[in-house]
Amino acid sequence: MSSTWTDAVVVARYEATPRIAVFELARADGDELWEYEPGAHIDVQIGEAALVRQYSLCGPPDTRKQYRIAVLGEASSRGGSRTMHALAEGDPLRIAAPRNRFGLTPARRHLLLAGGIGITPLLAMAQTLDATGGDYHLHYCARSRSEAAFAAELENHPRVTLHFDDRAPEQLLDLERDLGEPAPGSAVYVCGPGGFMDYALGRAAELGWPASALHKERFSASPTTAEPGRGGADGFTVRLTSTGAEYLVPGDQSVLDVMLANGIEAPYSCGQGICGECIVRVRSGEPDHRDDVLTDEERAEGLFTPCSSRSRSPILELEL
Ligand code: FES
Repeated sequence: MSSTWTDAVVVARYEATPRIAVFELARADGDELWEYEPGAHIDVQIGEAALVRQYSLCGPPDTRKQYRIAVLGEASSRGGSRTMHALAEGDPLRIAAPRNRFGLTPARRHLLLAGGIGITPLLAMAQTLDATGGDYHLHYCARSRSEAAFAAELENHPRVTLHFDDRAPEQLLDLERDLGEPAPGSAVYVCGPGGFMDYALGRAAELGWPASALHKERFSASPTTAEPGRGGADGFTVRLTSTGAEYLVPGDQSVLDVMLANGIEAPYSCGQGICGECIVRVRSGEPDHRDDVLTDEERAEGLFTPCSSRSRSPILELEL
């Protein structure tokens, strides 16, 4: 788990849509919160069961008095969104220092593609680009105006286009028109539900956008990452470079599970290959990458997510 936590309190809460609640959080002792860059998320620990969930900070990033997060109530919730939605002003919780693997890159133009609750990190990016004079356009897709959180903040903005499923077909997101062919110096950022991510990233690739220009953040593991039985029945062995110790990773456990069960201190957060908190480096062996967070370059450099990824070789040596 993340090591830097602070006690916090809900200082404001309102319903942005019938399904999305917005929370403003401050430190319980009144001090300032950590600085962060747009695209960052925090771990939030809630309820008696001390559930930990990750939520993107939706800005504005230039204030350290409060963090703003938005939480979608999901029928398929593992308990996190239900517990969050039960919170009221004045309720305590704990939050961890922000982490960011979805930051703005030094591009000349930024194209932000948001689907539903995926608006949260992209809203913070848009606010920062507004404040710094950055060139960008935000396309925000939602089922309807009433289900689009922060629509009132965005609907008259000259750099924002809203797309609603229940309106005329010609205003729906059309990536051939709205993204177009790759432009030198441009970067694309995509965040939203799995279907939206798959469509946007797949269409961008078809239009010729290179993977290096496409930046993404998922809220849940993609079907490939979450595929059951991904390790094979026989498992494999993990060797740690610090001690030379070897551990068998069975087919039904992750490398992270095995490390934690053996008392090895390892940072982690999402446990699904989407946050990057657990990343370690491979010394030798052939990793079977099953994550939604590492870039091709990072994989080529030897980075690896023990919470979700496996090994194709009988032994995988990790720099731990
Ligand atoms: S704990 Fe989130 S990627 Fe591994």
